[in-house]
Amino acid sequence: MEKLVVTGPTQLKGEVTISGAKNAAVALLPATLLIDGVCTIENLPHISDIEISCTILEKLGAKITWNDKHCITIDTRNITTTKAPLDLTSKFRASYYIIGSMLGRKGEIEVGMPGGCKLGARPIDQHIKGFEALGATVTVEKGKIYGKAKKLKGTSIYMDIVSVGATINVMLAAVLAKGTTTIDNAAKEPHIVDVANFLNTMGADIRGAGTDVIKINGVEKLHGNATYSVVPDQIEAGTFMLAAVATRGDLTLKNCITKHLESITAKIIEVGGNVEDYGDSIRVWCNKRPNKANIKTLPYPGFPTDLQPQMGVVLSLANGTSVINESIWESRFQYTDELNKMGAKITAQGKTAFFEGVKKLYGAPVYSTDLRAGAALVIAGTAAQGETDIYNLQHIDRGYEDIEGKFRKIGANIKRVTEE
Ligand code: EPU
Repeated sequence: MEKLVVTGPTQLKGEVTISGAKNAAVALLPATLLIDGVCTIENLPHISDIEISCTILEKLGAKITWNDKHCITIDTRNITTTKAPLDLTSKFRASYYIIGSMLGRKGEIEVGMPGGCKLGARPIDQHIKGFEALGATVTVEKGKIYGKAKKLKGTSIYMDIVSVGATINVMLAAVLAKGTTTIDNAAKEPHIVDVANFLNTMGADIRGAGTDVIKINGVEKLHGNATYSVVPDQIEAGTFMLAAVATRGDLTLKNCITKHLESITAKIIEVGGNVEDYGDSIRVWCNKRPNKANIKTLPYPGFPTDLQPQMGVVLSLANGTSVINESIWESRFQYTDELNKMGAKITAQGKTAFFEGVKKLYGAPVYSTDLRAGAALVIAGTAAQGETDIYNLQHIDRGYEDIEGKFRKIGANIKRVTEE
C-alpha cells in the first residue's frame, strides 16, 4: 500500500505551474468521439482519470498517439463499437460524457453507471431528461445505461438544477443534432466554456457557454484537423492558493486564469491573506493566523465545492469559529473526521460544519476519503507539527498531477512510500 509521508510544519514558498483542468479534460476526451477526423489536445493533466479516459476511447476504436505526457493526437474516424467497457467506465464520474457523444455520433450507446468520488447521491436524471428531449430513448437497467436515437432533434431544455455534468452532456448530444437546441439554467463553470470552445474549434456552432443560456446550432459534421490546449485547472490553482494561506507561506502560481479564481481570492483576502493578480499568474501570501470566515459553496461563479475541504484546513487554523455550508454535495464533510484526528475541532451536522479554530494541527495517520479531501490532508500535513501519513492515494492521483513533486518543489517535506 502506498502512502504519503508529510513532515511539518513548513511555510510553502516559491513557484508552482498549474496543470490543465481535470474536469475540462475528462469532457474534452469523450467530446472527440463527435469528430470524424484527427485532432491534437495539449496541456492535458498527467493523472489517472486521463489515462483511463484514453483507454476507453481506444476500446471504442479511437487511435491515440502520445506526443508527450501532456499531449495526444487522437483519430476518431473509425469508431468500431457502441459498447463502452464496464470495468473502466465505473472507475470515474466523467465516463457519462460518452453517452452524449455517442448518441450524437452513432445514435447508440451501452455504458455502465458512472463511478467517481462518494459525495452523496449523484443522480443523472437531468442528463437523461436532456437526451430524451432531443429524441433519444434511455433506459437504466441492472447498472447499465442504454441509449438509442435515430437522429437527435434540437429543442429547448430547461435544467431543473444547475448541473455541470448535465450541461456538458446535453451540449455534446446537441452538437450533431438537427436544428437548434437551447439549454436554459445551464451551469457556467470554466470547463463548460472550454468544452464549447474545443467543439467550436472543430466546427461546432455553440453560443453562450459561460452564461446560463447555451444555444447549439446543430452541424452535419465536426472536422478535426486542429490543436486545442486545455484550460488551466481552477481547482488545482485554488488548492495551492489555500495551501499558501494555511502554511503562512508565499506562493506564485503560473499558468492560471485569475478571473476563474475570484471567489477564492475574495475569501483569502477576508481571512487576512494577500493576493497579487497578474492575469495569468497569481501570488498569494499570508503572514499571520487566518481570521474566521463563513463559506457557502455554490455553482460557478460562487465558491466551489471542490475547494471546500482545502478551505476547511485554513478555517481549522483560524482565529475564531467559522461555518461552512455545503450546498452541492450531501457528504462532503467526511474529511472533517480526519482533520479532527490531527487536532482540529470541527463539528459537522448534515450540510453544515462548524470550525472552532485551533492554533496548531498535529501529524497523524489519516485517510483520504475523496479527491479534494486528499488534497486538503496534504495541506494539513504540511501545516501540522510532526509526521502525517496519508493513505488512499488513488483518490488524489485521479485528479492532481504529481502532487508530491509540486509540494516538494515549494519546500514541503513529503515523500511517497510503499508500505507492506
Ligand atoms: N444533480 C442531480 N441530477 C443530475 C445531475 C446532478 O440532481 O442529473 C445534482 C447533484 O446530485 C449535485 C448537483 O446537482 O447535488 C450538482 O451536480 P453536478 O452535475 O454539477 O456535478 P457533476 O457534474 O457530477 C462536477 C465535477 C465535480 C464537482 C461538481 C460541482 C466533473 C467530472 N466533476 O460533477 O468535481 O464537484 O461538478 O461543481 O466535472 C471533483 O473534481 O473533485 C469533483 C467532484
